[in-house]
Amino acid sequence: MLSPSSDVMSPAADLTIQRNAACKPKPDPSTLLFGKNFSDHMLTVSWSEKTGWEAPQIKPFQNLSLHPASSSLHYSIELFEGMKAFRGVDNHIRLFRPMLNMERMHRSAERSCLPLFDKAELLECIRKLVEVDQEWVPYSLDASLYIRPTFIGTEPSLGVSRPGSALIFVIVGPVGPYFSTGTFNPVSLLADPSFVRAWKGGVGAYKMGGNYGPTIAVQTEASKRGCQQVLWLYGEDEEVTEVGTMNFFVYWTNQNGERELVTPGLDGLILPGVTRQSLLDLARGWGEFKVTERTMGMKELLAALEAGRVLEVFGAGTACVVCPVSELLYKGKTYHIPTMENGPDLAKRFFKELTDIQVRSLQLRAASFHQKHPNLWIIFLSMSNCIIGRNLNVFAVIA
Ligand SMILES: Cc1ncc(COP(=O)(O)O)c(C=O)c1O
Repeated sequence: MLSPSSDVMSPAADLTIQRNAACKPKPDPSTLLFGKNFSDHMLTVSWSEKTGWEAPQIKPFQNLSLHPASSSLHYSIELFEGMKAFRGVDNHIRLFRPMLNMERMHRSAERSCLPLFDKAELLECIRKLVEVDQEWVPYSLDASLYIRPTFIGTEPSLGVSRPGSALIFVIVGPVGPYFSTGTFNPVSLLADPSFVRAWKGGVGAYKMGGNYGPTIAVQTEASKRGCQQVLWLYGEDEEVTEVGTMNFFVYWTNQNGERELVTPGLDGLILPGVTRQSLLDLARGWGEFKVTERTMGMKELLAALEAGRVLEVFGAGTACVVCPVSELLYKGKTYHIPTMENGPDLAKRFFKELTDIQVRSLQLRAASFHQKHPNLWIIFLSMSNCIIGRNLNVFAVIA
């Protein structure tokens, strides 16, 4: 509808690999800062309206050469993804639910008027990039390889129009833990309804660069007011939508006296997080408490806090898995949230379950698991486990 629909990405089988002759030394995993270190290679796939998708290339990590009128630079025709590869306890490298990232990227491309691509082929190219740079996946259970697929319009023209040329590139680099081992530091949030991240009919549900740049000034304001992150509110009811760049979760005793996990539904304002989906899937699988996707206004949240019904508030995202929240600054008043006093039992359980899947999942029960969950949670990098899926050496599993 919004984008050329019949473009087929060149098969990953056409991918060419040019090895870097000058590989860099790997940094010590205990010193890693987010987004500062990059591996030796990158993946590029070019597209033009005239010739379609070119063959994918893995080549030495290098600068891009762009026409200064490129539409990504002027009109933010740009989108990205964030995902990770983990080196498990068995030394096997695992990608966590990567098809969900490919699906989200595909939706973002459609909304950005960038050409559509074959999700399985792109994932296979990314898998090959990680394979080429596998020594960059840290030998540490506390660190991982961050994967940044990026898609930009390269149309060399100042007209505000659908780009006639575009480039997918993927860079990867090692990142450390969000929380250093043993700590689970809670954050304080600025909830100020005068700032808005996304709106109805807008593009908050897509991972476009244009959604992120404008939040930096608000994050700076939050820091000035002594808060670590922003709680994004929306509309007359001051609906709670997201925490910084994480999805928002409340675990409480609801008005009917039931234990319930609540997160905003995917109504166009919310980024459909892979971690969000995973927490919902896990909690629904446990069946121990109610799990609800719905909007919640500040009034309702504060009333529940005052009534002592709120047990835990946390954000969820790839960077940290879960991030507990201990304070809210709203209209000049600071509200304490007893997340840490309550364990936080649920946040810790989610953290352990997800990180166990990421580094300890076994190659067991793949067939029965696959029947129940067509969307694989883990793709193993190693070629020896090729069982399910188009060309992908996948072998899924939550044992
Ligand atoms: C606005 C926003 N919400 C939520 C998330 C969490 O998404 P995920 O769990 O896929 O990392 C992100 C992270 O990318 C984000 O940018």
